[in-house]
Amino acid sequence: MARTDRSRNIPHWYAPEGETLSITAGEGARVTDDDGAEYLDFVAQLYCVNAGHSCEPIVDAMAEQARQIPYVSSSKTTPARDELAARLADRAPGDLNDVFFSISGSEANESAIQIAREQQDASKVLTRWRSYHGSTYAAGGLSGDPETRAVVERHAATTGVGKFLPPMVHDSPFDGDTPAEIGQQAADHLEFVIKNEGPDSVAAVLTEPIAGTSGAYPAPPGYFERVREICDAYDVLLIVDEVISGFGRCGDWFGIGTEGVEPDMITFAKGVTSAYAPLAGVIAREEIGSGIRAAGHPLGQTFAGHPVACAAGNAAMDAYADGLIENCRELAPYLEERLGDLEARYDEVATVHGRGLLWSVVFADPETGEPFVDPRVEPDADNPVEAVCEVAQDHGVLFGTGRPATQVICSPPLCVDRADVDEAVEALAAGIEAAF
Ligand SMILES: Cc1ncc(COP(=O)(O)O)c(C=O)c1O
Repeated sequence: MARTDRSRNIPHWYAPEGETLSITAGEGARVTDDDGAEYLDFVAQLYCVNAGHSCEPIVDAMAEQARQIPYVSSSKTTPARDELAARLADRAPGDLNDVFFSISGSEANESAIQIAREQQDASKVLTRWRSYHGSTYAAGGLSGDPETRAVVERHAATTGVGKFLPPMVHDSPFDGDTPAEIGQQAADHLEFVIKNEGPDSVAAVLTEPIAGTSGAYPAPPGYFERVREICDAYDVLLIVDEVISGFGRCGDWFGIGTEGVEPDMITFAKGVTSAYAPLAGVIAREEIGSGIRAAGHPLGQTFAGHPVACAAGNAAMDAYADGLIENCRELAPYLEERLGDLEARYDEVATVHGRGLLWSVVFADPETGEPFVDPRVEPDADNPVEAVCEVAQDHGVLFGTGRPATQVICSPPLCVDRADVDEAVEALAAGIEAAF
């Protein structure tokens, strides 16, 4: 395919020094660029093409919906939208039964905090320092990632957000001897923050159940149970951001499913349609939903719950139920084992952690245990972790760099197999050998 004129298009997360790939085709877990080079897409583009790139039933459902009626006002409804809401409610834990659609993950989080603030009549929302919740103004302010937050806050303060420390086991801000002890300390710290902010001023705690781009770190055992207890004790809502962790990515419909607690709201995006069309939203407890129904809700967005996207969502949910989530569960131990081999083989790999098909390979200087380059402190330094990804790309495999870029994130479509995992791990090994 001939190269198109790229000069007028500004890509997102644009870095002038890097080359921008132009992807022209995709099939399963593979994509092709405009030079005809093929890549194993071990990051599902932006952690979102969970069903792979050529899922015909999703494409057919979208085409059928576009023929039937392509757009219906978001203040009205249509069968594809109702069906998807009902199916999401069915898959969400407990009595999370009411769905308010939006378009992007950022906007889903903004809707959730807007609903929480109304419901609780309180303004503050607490999020983790090590987190990513989007890059629009309010969602960028929610994000703990400094690169995102600093940019949105440079010229206009975001308000009503407090931060707490993450329950990370590797590179932990806590000193417990076991993951469970760290989980307990991290939960105690959250309680301390809520008390200090003034519990009545706190509307919600918003957190990823398993971190996404901020490091694929699952919470230590017991952490979420304790967080739920604390939220109940202080009458604070618990919102979980499932934008990456949902839709099979971590081996279940929702990441919080493995933590054994029910949140008050879930936000979702990306994998809901396997990224075949933009769609996002909030799934809320019935009590919250009935409050909205009773009082009315004077806000909305034109493209929220777009019918073609909802049709894609219904078909994607079929694909997840029809073997993809099961494949994720079956393959996860193999990915963990193969990434563990890298940790054993290379001193520069400090640890690997994750869940399902969402994993982080963390790099640190073996002499000091510190990152080779910490982009939060030295944003302009050459970062060998970025070089690992570049070399892996030259070997035909795409990965993500995490936030901060001291790690490589693996998040392939859920249709990958063992041979794909082997290929990805070998490309990473080549990247590590070249970069260090
Ligand atoms: C956990 C999480 N929340 C929210 C978002 C924002 O979603 P979007 O880019 O669709 O606005 C992202 C995007 O990567 C994410 O990873």
